Amino acid sequence: METLSIFDRKWKFCIFISLVIFFNIFILRLANLRYLHNALLTLTLTSNNLLMSKNFELLKPLTYNEKGKCNVFEGQWVYKPRENPLYRASKCPFLSDQVSCRKNGRPDFEYEKWSWEANDCQIPSFDAIDMLERLRGKRVILVGDSLNRNQWESLVCLLYSAIPSSRAHVDFREGSYKVFKAKDYNVSVEFYWSPFLVQLHSNEDTATRVLRIDKLVGSFRHWQGADVMVFNTGHWWVHCGKFKAWDVLQYKGKLMDDTKIESAFEIAMKTWASWVDKNVDSTRTTVFFRSISPEHKGDNWCFNKTKPLMEETSYVPIFPKPLAETVERIVAGMKTQIQYLNITKLSQYRIDAHPTVYTTKKDKQLIEKKLKTPEITADCSHWCLPGLPDTWNRLLYASMVLKGSEKSANSSHEVFGDL
Ligand SMILES: *[C@@H]1O[C@H](CO)[C@@H](O)[C@H](O)[C@H]1NC(C)=O
Ligand SMILES: *[C@@H]1O[C@H](CO)[C@@H](O)[C@H](O)[C@H]1NC(C)=O
Ligand SMILES: *[C@@H]1O[C@H](CO)[C@@H](O)[C@H](O)[C@H]1NC(C)=O
Ligand SMILES: *[C@@H]1O[C@H](CO)[C@@H](O)[C@H](O)[C@H]1NC(C)=O
Repeated sequence: METLSIFDRKWKFCIFISLVIFFNIFILRLANLRYLHNALLTLTLTSNNLLMSKNFELLKPLTYNEKGKCNVFEGQWVYKPRENPLYRASKCPFLSDQVSCRKNGRPDFEYEKWSWEANDCQIPSFDAIDMLERLRGKRVILVGDSLNRNQWESLVCLLYSAIPSSRAHVDFREGSYKVFKAKDYNVSVEFYWSPFLVQLHSNEDTATRVLRIDKLVGSFRHWQGADVMVFNTGHWWVHCGKFKAWDVLQYKGKLMDDTKIESAFEIAMKTWASWVDKNVDSTRTTVFFRSISPEHKGDNWCFNKTKPLMEETSYVPIFPKPLAETVERIVAGMKTQIQYLNITKLSQYRIDAHPTVYTTKKDKQLIEKKLKTPEITADCSHWCLPGLPDTWNRLLYASMVLKGSEKSANSSHEVFGDL
């Protein structure tokens, strides 16, 4: 009898556990929220009571380490073979040829299957409708070089894929200005091409290109009043040879020594920073600065790579460290609080995510020709879409979700580092 009753108790316990597991699977299905997945795993591993409380904890969209901090830029790439990108390149009319890898014939797609996971918290999944709701009646601007255009194209595809195409409106004016509108939400997402953030002026008389480091680029008139601003610069400052875009630097009306690129860059960054500090009302506008997007050249050449780098140390940075430090120093010293999208490190791993030779419309002969000299033709600086910039935008979205939840939760949460 004694054994039977023990058996009976065990049996009841087992039924109870099964019910709890079943209940959790049910919730998981119902809510379709990824962060509940971990709750389920915890469930199967821990004892009952513990499990219930843990599970409850995990129902919160974001969890934090003991210090109440989470740096979403520290983490690792996790292979998710069954996860599909949030949009299909063939369904998004805003993708330029430069980044439409699949459309251009790139044969492998594994690079689309990696998900960024932070060490200390669960980053929310991108939710386009929720983002549009949060942005209702607002303007988002992205200002910078072709890497910011890469990010704009990603963001626009992410949002566009969630609404009926007839409810979207797009205005392309040359390559330098593009705007996407989600009509039902009165949201606009604008891109202003401006690789230096300061003025590049062509002097027709002398046929020289003058980079005026103390004059902000003319499009700033359109930035005013935007609710979210995302800036970047850096890449064009280090272009050399035929890619260098200016002949002379000008500061306070005088020509400046071209060799002091670091101080010129610093002055240009300050020109931008003082405009932001004078013109941005930080109670209504959130300003982001996106860190340098790494290139994969030399020892870390991107050509024919189908897997991310797994070791942080296997990447040798190409972009000059002093320039990156200048950005961080200036941004940290501003009156306006800047959200620093520190995506450099997480992007360094993604040696597999560049367009390489698949940068032009599908054309077998052209691709074959490019494949003969990949060392010249491979693009190892932009990123395939769908792809890595979708993660940058997921982090942009995460910052909005967090900002919203901060009001009710503990405001000491610092997701975007100490800036
Ligand atoms: C749409 O948003 C803009 C700001 O982005 C605002 O000026 C305008 O009044 C809004 N229109 C409507 C109909 O809400
Ligand atoms: C790409 O890599 C694969 C396997 O590493 C190799 O077999 C193939 O020849 C490479 N292709 C080119 C064009 O280098
Ligand atoms: C926020 O966290 C800090 C430190 O963990 C704590 O001292 C403070 O009381 C908390 N505030 C609220 C409102 O929970
Ligand atoms: C950005 O990330 C890098 C690499 O993780 C780190 O060294 C740097 O301190 C971060 N910058 C800021 C301002 O948080």
